[in-house]
Amino acid sequence: MGTPEDIGRAVQRLYNTYPFPPDPLTDGPPPGYNWRWHWPAVHSFCTGALPVRRDIHILDAGCGTGVGTDYLAHLNPEATITALDLSEQALAVAQERTRRSGVPRPVTFHHLSLLEVASLGLTFDYINCVGVLHHLPDPAAGLRALADCLAPGGLLHIFVYAAYGRWEIRLLQEAIRLLNPSANPVQGVQTGRQLLAHLPRDNRLVQREKQRWAMENHWDASFADMYVHPQEVDYTVDSLFDLMSSTDLAFLGFSNPDHWQLERLLGTDPDLLAAAQGLPLRQRYRLVDVLDPETTHYEFFLGRPPVPQFTWDEDADFLAAIPEVYPCLTGWPSPSLLDRDYRPLDLDAPSFQLLSACDGRRTVADVLHQTGADLSLVRQLWQRYLLVLTPAGTSGRPASV
Ligand SMILES: C[S@@+](CC[C@H](N)C(=O)[O-])C[C@H]1O[C@@H](n2cnc3c(N)ncnc32)[C@H](O)[C@@H]1O
Repeated sequence: MGTPEDIGRAVQRLYNTYPFPPDPLTDGPPPGYNWRWHWPAVHSFCTGALPVRRDIHILDAGCGTGVGTDYLAHLNPEATITALDLSEQALAVAQERTRRSGVPRPVTFHHLSLLEVASLGLTFDYINCVGVLHHLPDPAAGLRALADCLAPGGLLHIFVYAAYGRWEIRLLQEAIRLLNPSANPVQGVQTGRQLLAHLPRDNRLVQREKQRWAMENHWDASFADMYVHPQEVDYTVDSLFDLMSSTDLAFLGFSNPDHWQLERLLGTDPDLLAAAQGLPLRQRYRLVDVLDPETTHYEFFLGRPPVPQFTWDEDADFLAAIPEVYPCLTGWPSPSLLDRDYRPLDLDAPSFQLLSACDGRRTVADVLHQTGADLSLVRQLWQRYLLVLTPAGTSGRPASV
């Protein structure tokens, strides 16, 4: 394709032609939540405890048309939000989106490559970088640029593509490039749609598009983002961990942890499951990677050490902590709700009673005293992301990574 500058210009051209994501603008706050954009939920996931501060500085790096930025602004009303992107057309939409949604505090937008984020002279407590790094000619350079402006204890959420589940996409991308060497995005979309309309119905690329992607790809902007991209790096677990090791940040976990549960794949065979669970962590991830080639992306958190880690192993610390109902549940206070991933959930009577007693002021010990529940139930509710905890005092006694 050419120099990194040529690639940058081609990426910019794509997103100026088709700003992404194409979600329509609406008046008022966006519906629902994504817990990955809610600082207290993110902090609890990464450290085990609620954050001390909510008046933090958040960066949305490669904000596109601002769908994520808008959530970040509404879900974190005390935070200062900065967003940047290469595409001026995407930024114009993002600006209009946040204006119409009535964000609690204005977002500052910059037309800037994330490679130059240091020029802002800022440090951030939370950086969201979704669907961006894999479009850089050198994603590790992009990751390092973001890492360099992360405050100590700061957290970074990243989403990048996975190779195995995007195999058919890569093949159709190549076919489109062969037939449309001009690299004109509009012609690329036409060629891609023509191919999918005329290939045999049982063709694997057609089948995959129909079963997996057609819903979102009715928008030309989504189709272009998927099939007409001038620059894409796809990862495996191994190359992903190599990417992470290009910085001094700590890996704090995938932000879709259920996907990485070995039980999901091997749960019906206790021997295989036990053998798999005996592997080192990275090999366990790799096993899921190779056994589930449907994986289309990786989403995960990194943190700048020292990041506190509250494991709550000590009963005394746990009893002194202050529990609150998990902030990202739909339907609370009802025993029938949707969990943080919008899955239906029916609480049994003891769990409902215990959560109802968590008022954000009383300690775990007080709540147990009031409800007669067992400490193990509080632990379970914390592990299931149904309650969050504030340590006693200001900092508790965490280990850190
Ligand atoms: C797939 S979109 C993702 C948008 C948004 N993060 C989301 O998830 O909805 C990728 C965005 O990254 C931007 N981008 C690509 N390379 C960039 C760079 N080096 N610096 C800043 N933005 C970049 C593109 O212009 C585009 O708007």
